[in-house]
Amino acid sequence: MSTSTGPTSPTTIATEPARLRLRLPDLAATRALAARLARLLRPGDLVALEGDLGAGKTEFARAVIRALAGGGVEVPSPTFTLVQRYELPALTLVHTDLYRLRDPAEVEELGLDEALEEGAVLVEWPERAGDALPADRLTIRFSFVPGEGSEVREVEIEAGPSFADRLPALAAKQA
Ligand SMILES: Nc1ncnc2c1ncn2[C@@H]1O[C@H](COP(=O)(O)OP(=O)(O)O)[C@@H](O)[C@H]1O
Ligand SMILES: [Mg+2]
Repeated sequence: MSTSTGPTSPTTIATEPARLRLRLPDLAATRALAARLARLLRPGDLVALEGDLGAGKTEFARAVIRALAGGGVEVPSPTFTLVQRYELPALTLVHTDLYRLRDPAEVEELGLDEALEEGAVLVEWPERAGDALPADRLTIRFSFVPGEGSEVREVEIEAGPSFADRLPALAAKQA
């Protein structure tokens, strides 16, 4: 209990994370969103790619990496290697897929903390890491849209504190 006699002011207990939902009618739309994100990424950014198998996480990551590389760089799915590192002109980027992780404790061995110090990290299946990854992240959750064409996806995007200011730029079409 406060013993101060001065006026009090509201203190924040919790703020809702910034959210955005987008419809991606086809693969080109997914790639366009990825290119927009590529322009906004900075060292220290953790991008969590969630969604079922085949939802588009790897396609999205591939498009982010290609946008930053400025061309057709080979981007294999890291399902088996777990971690792929790309030294790109504007940013060092690590792409990881935790699907095959057996235990959240294994996350430490992947060097993602170091990767976040030098660049940005894209993580497929972040759920497998439990709470071993930083909570401040940009989450992009891909889902299929039942009854629509096979290329239609929806994404729900949730920005943690460090990304909140950049969320509007992700929503808006760039000139
Ligand atoms: N709008 C879309 N966005 C992303 N992928 C799409 C889209 N439409 C069709 N696809 C196809 O869906 C598949 C997604 O596979 P992938 O990215 O490997 O999924 P995940 O990594 O989520 O398991 C690819 O074959 C891709 O070509
Ligand atoms: Mg994948």
